Amino acid sequence: MLRALARSRRVLFIGGKGGVGKTTVATATALAAAREGRRVLLVSTDPAHNLGHIWGCEIGARTRRLAPNLDGLELDPEQTARAHLDEVGAALRKLMPAHLAGEVDKHMALSRETPGMHEAAMLERIAELVEQGDTDHDLLVFDTAPSGHTARLMALPEMMSAWVEGMLHRQARSRHFGEVLRGLGRDDDVGRQALGASDDAPETPADSRDDRIRSLLNRRRHRFEHLRAVLSDRERTAFVIVLTAERLPVLETIELHAQLRRAGVGVGGLVVNKRSPLDAGAFLAHRSALESEHLATLAQALPGLGMLELPLLAGEPVGRAALEAFSVRLPD
Ligand SMILES: Nc1ncnc2c1ncn2[C@@H]1O[C@H](COP(=O)(O)OP(=O)(O)OP(=O)(O)O)[C@@H](O)[C@H]1O
Ligand SMILES: [Mg+2]
Repeated sequence: MLRALARSRRVLFIGGKGGVGKTTVATATALAAAREGRRVLLVSTDPAHNLGHIWGCEIGARTRRLAPNLDGLELDPEQTARAHLDEVGAALRKLMPAHLAGEVDKHMALSRETPGMHEAAMLERIAELVEQGDTDHDLLVFDTAPSGHTARLMALPEMMSAWVEGMLHRQARSRHFGEVLRGLGRDDDVGRQALGASDDAPETPADSRDDRIRSLLNRRRHRFEHLRAVLSDRERTAFVIVLTAERLPVLETIELHAQLRRAGVGVGGLVVNKRSPLDAGAFLAHRSALESEHLATLAQALPGLGMLELPLLAGEPVGRAALEAFSVRLPD
């Protein structure tokens, strides 16, 4: 099931509860696709990255070659948010009269602390990668953060599109930059000064300024809409939930499935990792029987979803050779 998804889709998200094996499964899937000749980009969106730990090497915010046909990347939320705000700040400074540059900086410094800023910046980066992915890579595999965080991220494109839409609508009504600034979240002197300044001696005529803001907002809206379209297109995108066959991961899987469904993201299948062997003593056989009961509950709650079981290994699949071996054993 995993291999089939890696062959047929352009974007795969690998998610699930903490510690169940998301990074390992994402890596094995990416390696399998790369071996078959697809150009793959493996991206970690988990702020607590463990892609580098699993690979036994440094992977940072710049694309790094991990194996033939396979590149890796760890998105850094802090740096992503900073780069994102720098870009918005630079655009605002260009649009605002020069004497208000200090106010723009103050506004941007406050934005840095806004709740959800990291997620929004991260999402913008994911949207960018999905856009570029169309040319640079055949398959993007996203190794995501534990469930709650990822479920929120998946619901975000819709909210962001709606937010940008609202800004455009307000801008169309007011045709005033100050209004847009207020929409950005600060109904104070920056907005008022901006309004005042546009009456005084604007560096840029108000109309052309409005047009440039409009085109900036439109670009973001298109980016989020594109991402939303990709996320909800089951031919192009699949979300794979990884779990271990225990009570809590099973419950969390059912919850994550419901959240993804609400966000319009299709779940391509379930991967049950670290399945205890039946033939390695009474202790593990007992665990295995218990696991089977939990999986029966899961199958009942989510009927019709493909379920792939991967065995618990004696050692940890860490480092390229061990990951390759794990990947080769992925059933077709
Ligand atoms: N099938 C397996 N057998 C034995 N060990 C495994 C197996 N799969 C993963 N592991 C080990 O379990 C640990 C957790 O795996 P991994 O880092 O892939 O999980 P994760 O879901 O990405 O965790 P986090 O939520 O912390 O990012 C790692 O040490 C990994 O080597
Ligand atoms: Mg991980």
